[in-house]
Amino acid sequence: MRYRVRNLRLAPRGRAAVEWAREHMPVLAEIRREFSRSRPLRGLRVGAALHVEAKTAVLALTLKEGGAEVSLAGCNPLSTKDEVAAALVKEGVSVYAWRGESQRDYYANLRRVIADRPDLVIDDGGDLVSELHSRGGMGVKGGCEETTTGVNRLRAMEARGELRFPVIAVNDSPTKRLFDNRFGTAESTLQALMSLTNTQIGGKRVVVVGYGHVGRGIASRARGLGAVVTVVETDPVRALEAAMDGFLVRSLEEACEDGEIFITATGSFHVIREEHLREMRDGAILCNAGHFNVEIDLEALRRLSERRREVLEDVEEFRLKGGKRLYLLAGGRLVNLAGRRSLGHPMEIMDLSFSLQALSLQYLAGNADRLKPGVHEVPPEIDRRVAELKLKLSGIRLERQTEEQREYLRSWRMGT
Ligand SMILES: NC(=O)c1ccc[n+]([C@@H]2O[C@H](COP(=O)([O-])OP(=O)(O)OC[C@H]3O[C@@H](n4cnc5c(N)ncnc54)[C@H](O)[C@@H]3O)[C@@H](O)[C@H]2O)c1
Repeated sequence: MRYRVRNLRLAPRGRAAVEWAREHMPVLAEIRREFSRSRPLRGLRVGAALHVEAKTAVLALTLKEGGAEVSLAGCNPLSTKDEVAAALVKEGVSVYAWRGESQRDYYANLRRVIADRPDLVIDDGGDLVSELHSRGGMGVKGGCEETTTGVNRLRAMEARGELRFPVIAVNDSPTKRLFDNRFGTAESTLQALMSLTNTQIGGKRVVVVGYGHVGRGIASRARGLGAVVTVVETDPVRALEAAMDGFLVRSLEEACEDGEIFITATGSFHVIREEHLREMRDGAILCNAGHFNVEIDLEALRRLSERRREVLEDVEEFRLKGGKRLYLLAGGRLVNLAGRRSLGHPMEIMDLSFSLQALSLQYLAGNADRLKPGVHEVPPEIDRRVAELKLKLSGIRLERQTEEQREYLRSWRMGT
C-alpha cells in the first residue's frame, strides 16, 4: 500500500474524530452493515478526490467494508485534516493528501490516485476526472460527482463529446441539493465565519451573492441569526424568489455601499471584482462558500492593497491605498472547509450525502458497463431509500396513501 500524509503519529487523534463521526452517521452505518454482508465492491479499486476529513473517512471505510480497495486524495489543498489522513492510512486506505499542499503537490496527489488504476472514481469539483481525461481515461468504468461545480464541468465535457465514461451527478439528486447544499452549507459556512472571526452575525448587514441551493440556505440561516440580509442574483426567477422570501435584492454595486459581510455562493468566476472592492466600507469581511477560490478576484484585492497581514488564523487583513481595510477568510477558498478550525458540514448531513455516494457506487459496480459515457441522474430509488432510511432511524413515520387516493390520482374522469 502506498501513501503520502503529513505524519502517521497523528493517527490516534484522527481515529477518535472518525469514531465520533461514525456514531453520528447512522444511515451510512446501515449501508455498511449491508455492504459487509454482500460485498458489492469486491475486487474493485475506487479512487476518490474528496475533502479528507472525518466524515469522508467514514465513507472510505464503508467502501472498504464493501470489498473495495480505496485510494484518496484531497479536493482542496486546505481542507485535509492531517490526523484523519494518518488514521485512514492505518486502516488500509491509500491516502495522498496533507493540509497546505502546494498546487503542484495537489495535482501530483491526484495523479497518485490515478496511478493506482481505479475502476470507479468519486470526485468533488471535477479535478480528478479532468486530470484522468488528460491521461486518456485510464480504464475507469464510471464515477460519481459530489458538487455543483463538478457537475457543471462534466456537462461542459459531455457537450463537447469529451466525457469518456458515465458519471452519476450525485449533487443533482433532490436529497443532496436540499440537505447538503442548502442546509449543510448554510450551517457550516456561518459556523466557520463565526469561529474564524468571533464576530456577531445578529444585526449585521450580510450580503449573499447567489441565491441557488447554497445561497438560499445561507441567506435564510443568516436571517435566523438576526442578520439583515441582502441577496445579489443574476437570474430573474431566483432574484424574484429571494424578494418574495423577504430579502432585499440589489445589485452588488448597490450592496457594496453598506455591506459588512459578503458571502459568495455562485460557482462562477470573479463575481466580486475591483470595482466592488473599491466601494466596500472599511472593515468589510469577505468569504466564499462556492467550490473554487475564484469567486472573489484575489488578484485585484492584492493589486489594490499596499499591505497585508494575518490578523487571526485564516483571517487576512488587506490595507488598501487610502487606509481602508478588508478582511479575507481562508484565502477565499470555501470557508466552511478550508479554515483550520472549519469543521465542514454537520455529520448528519454528510451521512445522507455519503449514503447517496455509497449506493450510487454500488449501482455503478453493477451497471456501469450498460451506461453510456455522459452525466447520469442518481436512480430515484436510491434517493428515496436514503430519505426513507433517515426517516426510519429518526423515528419519523410517513403517512400512507389509501387505495382510493391512488386510484383518484391515476384517473382523469373525476372533476368538481
Ligand atoms: N461550501 C460547500 O461546502 C459547498 C457545498 C455545496 C455546493 N458548493 C458549491 O457552491 C456553489 C453554488 O452551488 P449551488 O448548488 O448553490 O449552485 P446553483 O447553480 O444552484 O446556484 C448558483 C446561483 O448563483 C447565481 N449566480 C451566478 N453568477 C452570479 C453572479 N455573478 N452574481 C450573482 N449571482 C450569480 C446563479 O444564478 C444561481 O442562482 C458551487 O460552486 C458548488 O459546487 C459548496
